[in-house]
Amino acid sequence: MENFEFVSPTHFVFGRGVEMQVGAKLAERGAKRVLLHFGGQSAVRSGLIDRVKASLVEAGVECVKLGGVRPNPEITLVREGVAIAKREKIDWVLAVGGGSVIDSAKAIANGVCIDCDVWELFETKRVNPQVLPIAVVLTIPAAGSEASKNTVISNDELGMKSGYANNFHRPKLAFMNPELTFTLPPFQTAAGVTDMFCHLLERFFDDVGAVPVTDNLNLSLMKTVRAEAPRVLADPENYDARANIMWAGMLCHQGLAGAGRNEDWATHGMEHELSAYDTSITHGAGLAVLFPAWMEYVHGENPARFAQYGREVFGLTPTGDVEADALSAIDETRAFFMSLGMPTTLVELGICEDELEGAIERMLPTLRANKGDVFGSFKKLTMEDAANIYRLAL
Ligand code: NZQ
Ligand code: ZN
Repeated sequence: MENFEFVSPTHFVFGRGVEMQVGAKLAERGAKRVLLHFGGQSAVRSGLIDRVKASLVEAGVECVKLGGVRPNPEITLVREGVAIAKREKIDWVLAVGGGSVIDSAKAIANGVCIDCDVWELFETKRVNPQVLPIAVVLTIPAAGSEASKNTVISNDELGMKSGYANNFHRPKLAFMNPELTFTLPPFQTAAGVTDMFCHLLERFFDDVGAVPVTDNLNLSLMKTVRAEAPRVLADPENYDARANIMWAGMLCHQGLAGAGRNEDWATHGMEHELSAYDTSITHGAGLAVLFPAWMEYVHGENPARFAQYGREVFGLTPTGDVEADALSAIDETRAFFMSLGMPTTLVELGICEDELEGAIERMLPTLRANKGDVFGSFKKLTMEDAANIYRLAL
């Protein structure tokens, strides 16, 4: 078991109607003036922003609104948020939305407390201990940003999408009402499920031996997500299925499912380049395409680990041939993503054969800038390996 640090300062408020407690809980913690940050339309259309605002007013907490966060959130709006928060003397950032809104909120909360441009943190990765406190009303279970240490922001001018990890910007409060996810379109539900499942895969497959306390938790989450996913897709207003998926999404990425492991994160790195190359690509959909290709490429490093995964998560019966068992586990993974309605080829994501080599040429320099010359842990990958995985995913 490797050494690790685990920080989880988030106070979770989970269940029906919990968004009505936002004002009171923020007031309890001394919030006076919050930046209410949200996305394109969904939270306005559903009336959620009005309800949250009413709860703030009732508790005597003032708010300044900043909407318009797009999926694959962009640095320009973050900079605008930083300027507003400084001008308006904001003391908390309240994100109402999914990973994109929360990540944008985290970046703003950092940017307000530093003297330089916030993108510098994404370039240097230096720890910034001064961050405005963040609260979240989650509307889509997927990225796990409601408790994670990461924010991922696109910079269209540079053609980059980069992550920045900082334990100091983990949200202090997270309101999670599964009913708020009833309105999710099936594609977003499925992309969210894929993302959370991949957060477990990234942690399960690395270069560390068995860590039973962590691995059993991880496998149990994989089984849960796999079992609940068809239920939410078949019956979007099934409260219990939505609740299980919502809580699982948090557990998949707040860190416990990888404690004591090195973790891999090669596929996430390669996906971030895809959604920087084409900002209309949804993160979960990109992962559904790349993860099986990564698995095919690297499984030879430790086929027994794949066989174990196939046995535990998909109930595969061992054949006595570990290589065959590993390949069956990879087939099951792809079939699972397909059963959710996810794409499993780059062509389905809109990147055709003629375009592929040009796309790879554009993605590799930014991949190198984000991840270094060699990346991943299950198998150390070079830029040539990355190119081969993109080709396998075609
Ligand atoms: O913008 P609106 O109109 O709100 O629509 C959103 C958006 O189009 C919609 N939506 C959200 N809640 C809804 C809803 N539609 C109907 N009903 C609701 N209740 O869903 C769309 C996707 O939202 P988004 O926030 O982009 O989704 P997600 O949570 O998957 O976040 C994806 C982003 O998170 C990053 C990804 O790279 C991507 O940029 N990640 C962040 C991580 C982290 N901070 O720890 C880790 C992840 O691995 C990931 O990289
Ligand atoms: Zn992810």
